[in-house]
Amino acid sequence: MAYVISFTIYKGGTGKTTSAVNTAAALSQLGQRVLLVDLDQQASSTRYVGLNPDEVNPTFYHVFMNQVPASVIRQETRFGFDVLPSSSLMAAIEESLEPGEERMLRTILQPLQEEYDYILIDTPPGKAALAFNGIVAADMLLVPASAERMSIDGVSDLVNHVQEIFWHKFREELRDQEIRVLFTMYKSSTKHSPGVVQASKRIYRENVLNVYVPETIEFPRSFEQRTPLTHLLPAHHGAQAYYRVAEWIITHARAKT
Ligand SMILES: Nc1ncnc2c1ncn2[C@@H]1O[C@H](COP(=O)(O)OP(=O)(O)O)[C@@H](O)[C@H]1O
Ligand SMILES: [Mg+2]
Repeated sequence: MAYVISFTIYKGGTGKTTSAVNTAAALSQLGQRVLLVDLDQQASSTRYVGLNPDEVNPTFYHVFMNQVPASVIRQETRFGFDVLPSSSLMAAIEESLEPGEERMLRTILQPLQEEYDYILIDTPPGKAALAFNGIVAADMLLVPASAERMSIDGVSDLVNHVQEIFWHKFREELRDQEIRVLFTMYKSSTKHSPGVVQASKRIYRENVLNVYVPETIEFPRSFEQRTPLTHLLPAHHGAQAYYRVAEWIITHARAKT
């Protein structure tokens, strides 16, 4: 059975997509079978791995409407892992999902569970149906927070909402769900980033990962090149951070099973 990790925070621009794609690539480079799920209508993960969301057909919409199984829309990437790509029809899913349908993605992914060691979900920002589906499908929420821009409030907004709403509503399914904070865009040269991490550790303690992803222009560049940094510049300290995240995930998931 795959271990399912959602990269989730309602705030935008904190590194969800960058983290999901580079962690997927790193896990795959470490020999794991990985599926990346792009739930965001911006389709950044889909583009990052070199696919054109406008050419996807059938799409996630048809999967959510129960017209095709998820395996039909699955594509291989050049980086050793597979992807369920996003498309412009994601907005239509958002509109058609009723409150109470937060469990759909969990059901959709079920038949693929045996084929992968890890399923990583890139979720859209905002408090809306697809983000909620990403949360309810996950064994672990990995919450990317920017160490440079204040996103601690964003972390507590997510954590409180998940614990109060979803852990209550889906008590059975989410009994063992865990939450971890991953700091991104970390600048060790200033006092600000270390301060933000310290403050956050006082609240979230050992649930803050000890890997801080450095701020570097190489991440936006790797997006422009449609290639994860772990493939573009594997020795770069930005890529190395995601190898360490991947290693931590493998060790952690092993201890759970
Ligand atoms: N560690 C980092 N250092 C510098 N820029 C980053 C880093 N992580 C992400 N970025 C850039 O910040 C922007 C937002 O990141 P992204 O991963 O798309 O966030 P989200 O998916 O949460 O909206 C993108 O332009 C991305 O390339
Ligand atoms: Mg994104």
